[in-house]
Amino acid sequence: VATIREVAKLAGVSVATVSRVLNSQGYVGVDTRKKVEQAIKALNYTPNAVARSLFNKQSKSIGFIIPDITNPFFPQLVKAVEETLTEQGYTVLLFNSDENLEKISKIIDLMKAEYVAGALIVSDHVKEEHLSNISIPVVAIDRTISGNIPSVTVNNYENAREAVRFLIQQGCSRIAHIRGPKEVYTSEERYRGYCDEMAAQGLPQFVTFGNYELVTSSQATISLLAEHPQIDAFFAGNDIMAVGVIKSLTSLGIPIPEQIKVIGFDGIEWGTTVTPELTTMMQPIQQLGHKSGELLLDIINGSHQGSQHFSFDACLIERQSTNGRG
Ligand code: RIB
Repeated sequence: VATIREVAKLAGVSVATVSRVLNSQGYVGVDTRKKVEQAIKALNYTPNAVARSLFNKQSKSIGFIIPDITNPFFPQLVKAVEETLTEQGYTVLLFNSDENLEKISKIIDLMKAEYVAGALIVSDHVKEEHLSNISIPVVAIDRTISGNIPSVTVNNYENAREAVRFLIQQGCSRIAHIRGPKEVYTSEERYRGYCDEMAAQGLPQFVTFGNYELVTSSQATISLLAEHPQIDAFFAGNDIMAVGVIKSLTSLGIPIPEQIKVIGFDGIEWGTTVTPELTTMMQPIQQLGHKSGELLLDIINGSHQGSQHFSFDACLIERQSTNGRG
């Protein structure tokens, strides 16, 4: 009869790691878990009854952590994820973190108590060490966690450069950027894309923080314009900030797109409900949701092979805020 020590030796890991896998406790990387499971199979190792019941304990639910439930981008993403997971018989437990670490740690405890089979996470605050408390497959969506955690994102940097190039093609040269929060992956990448494209074209840069919020962006637009009235376009790091820009320009009586053009990033439905309708770099939200759901299920089922990181492109949708048709 094989022992836990022999399993550990064959898998090339410690006894403690094997026990973490058996008890679904503590973080174990996807590759390590696979090695342990293969060793268990190869040695026909049978844990004792208690360990066995813990080993098999798993519900058909997936935890999904989003950072801001008030931003319509996230409900659209949740819907797409849910479509894929429910088709496979899973239910989604949705958690709004507000990127608050205390809340995040409670959510992780709760997911553990619910024996979720896996987790999808959109966060800049969740780090690998927070996941050490829970031994389940995790996929990061929209924002990366670390190179070890599989992810599904968009090409924020390149797509931001594309947005700036488009405004330049439209005749703009004094383009401002309303950026998202500091140290948020998507926001930093879009900011970097703006800076590099403006520098490459030898154009001056005007940057302010909108923190991915409508009201902050709306106020930031007014302050930035008071300082630099020559601005002829705004590239907002997400759509709700672009709506904030439109709101302020309209209240100042500035014609869009004649005097100032506006482009956002996301492609949420709100973009078509404002006047003028918003030009945007539309993220493939459906695709992001479906891919991350499929990837997570493949990892859970042990059938995933190949790349762990997937990246999609946002695509330009021209509407009235840059002369496009509504
Ligand atoms: O609108 C919310 C933003 O946060 C989106 O652009 C998304 O990509 C994210 O990181």
